[in-house]
Amino acid sequence: MSTADDPRWWRSAVIYQIYPRSFADADGDGIGDLAGIRQRLAYLAGLGVDAVWFSPWYPSPMADAGYDVSDYRDIDPVFGTLAEAEELIAQAHRLGLRVIIDLVPNHCSEAHPWFQAALASPDAPERELFWFRPGRGPDGSQKPTDWVSPFGGDTWTRTTNPDGTPGDWYLHLFAPQQPDFNWDHPRVRAEFEDILRFWLDRGIDGIRIDSAAMLAKDPALPEATPDGPSPFIDLDAVHEIYRSWRRIVEEYPGGRALIGEVWLPDQQRFANYLRPDELHAAFNFDFLGCAWDPVALRACIDATLAAHLPVGAPATWVLSNHDVTRHVTRYGREDTTFSFAAKREGIPSDLELGTRRARAAALLSLSLPGAAYVYQGEELGLWEVEDIPPELRQDPMYFRSGGVDPGRDGCRVPLPWSGETPPFGFSPDGATARPWLPQPADWKDRTAEAQAGDERSMLELYRAAIAIRRAEPALGDGELTWLPAPDGVLAYQRSPRFTCVVNLAGAPVPLPPHTERLLASGPLDDDLLPPDTAVWLRTTETTAT
Ligand code: GLC
Repeated sequence: MSTADDPRWWRSAVIYQIYPRSFADADGDGIGDLAGIRQRLAYLAGLGVDAVWFSPWYPSPMADAGYDVSDYRDIDPVFGTLAEAEELIAQAHRLGLRVIIDLVPNHCSEAHPWFQAALASPDAPERELFWFRPGRGPDGSQKPTDWVSPFGGDTWTRTTNPDGTPGDWYLHLFAPQQPDFNWDHPRVRAEFEDILRFWLDRGIDGIRIDSAAMLAKDPALPEATPDGPSPFIDLDAVHEIYRSWRRIVEEYPGGRALIGEVWLPDQQRFANYLRPDELHAAFNFDFLGCAWDPVALRACIDATLAAHLPVGAPATWVLSNHDVTRHVTRYGREDTTFSFAAKREGIPSDLELGTRRARAAALLSLSLPGAAYVYQGEELGLWEVEDIPPELRQDPMYFRSGGVDPGRDGCRVPLPWSGETPPFGFSPDGATARPWLPQPADWKDRTAEAQAGDERSMLELYRAAIAIRRAEPALGDGELTWLPAPDGVLAYQRSPRFTCVVNLAGAPVPLPPHTERLLASGPLDDDLLPPDTAVWLRTTETTAT
């Protein structure tokens, strides 16, 4: 369904994630920018998405590609200016695209003025805005806790006092350049409420909340134990923060949404974030990490819907983002799941198989009840770039793991738009700087230009699917009814009169009765649906009985 005038748009929207560094570079420095995005907004309107989410665009030393923010109320010069961001928001709205920004409240950059003031003196009041603690041991030389970072490695760094003596330690759940805020302090809360208003006043429609489950910490700083509750993930105290944010967004007209990045294994704990007075939606990482397997997928879909139902929140369906291995590559591997723990260099992938499955997964995720997310380049069928030379890698996850974890650069390679050779229209003709990460020569077949108009392409599949989704009252928010189907086949009905069938069995299966074939992810053999293929059908209501 089209969500243009719907204040509850976030329940049904197709949301496209832009990673600004890698989307489009207008000034030729090899790094994407807002001017580049503005030139390509019409492409997104043409793709048919309802909203665009921008990964962080704020001033940042880029120790974690912009997730280390030094000023929450401005734009990094590498991307453009605040005035350009305002124009971009207005232009998106004119094209019927809603705008979601990325807010990073768990931590800032070490270059943030508060942290700089905190470092300048052990007596600075700004120390209270972070987690400064003396070290353990007689000389304070041992870190305050042994908490392990999601990036791998330590979560504490020792400071040096202005007189050169070793000082206190500060907490950073991620990289040392990302000090964690102390959310027990009222000044931190007031500051972020003001930042929310700053951007809401500029017309943004939604906020993606980075590391949303990590803001509250146990102030007693206990050690993390394998079986006990985490001292820094999903503490109950975090919910009050989102209640106050919800009250703020509800003061604004038109339906402004809070969308959480909540990685939690427990569906009940996850759903707590989606209670009616907290966040509107959260990313479904269970689905993202799920194997390409009929039993696992059906269980994941059922568990997702069951968890969202009691809190009345819409489910979200996510296949990829800027932190995970692109799903064309994942789905071509023997193990099709995703987890950070299992990421390793050099796992073989059959990209043809992965692409076929990714096409079927697109029809699956775009027809499940709720909102769907598309990560830039997924609509072009891009794969993970796994041969970036070590000297060009940028991601702290790669460096902090000593190269054991390949990091996230492989899914962040600049998009191929046109032409036969890099930079594939990412940068303008004549640009001397190369794209900030190297693009594979084989992407010449995956440019937007090469795919446009080719009805077998991934791009045209996404365009067609999103257009049908917009026109189809059955799709978006709502319910799903499973249909009887052979082993290995997922078949469900969305009312009225819409059926999706995904074949994950190893052999072709007959299609259920239907009156019209709306769209298929690959060629059909008469009325047989080949393996790793999905189809959308017009059916009669009675099919469900
Ligand atoms: C989130 C972001 C990721 C970032 C991390 C620290 O997980 O998605 O890219 O590195 O938070 O801000």
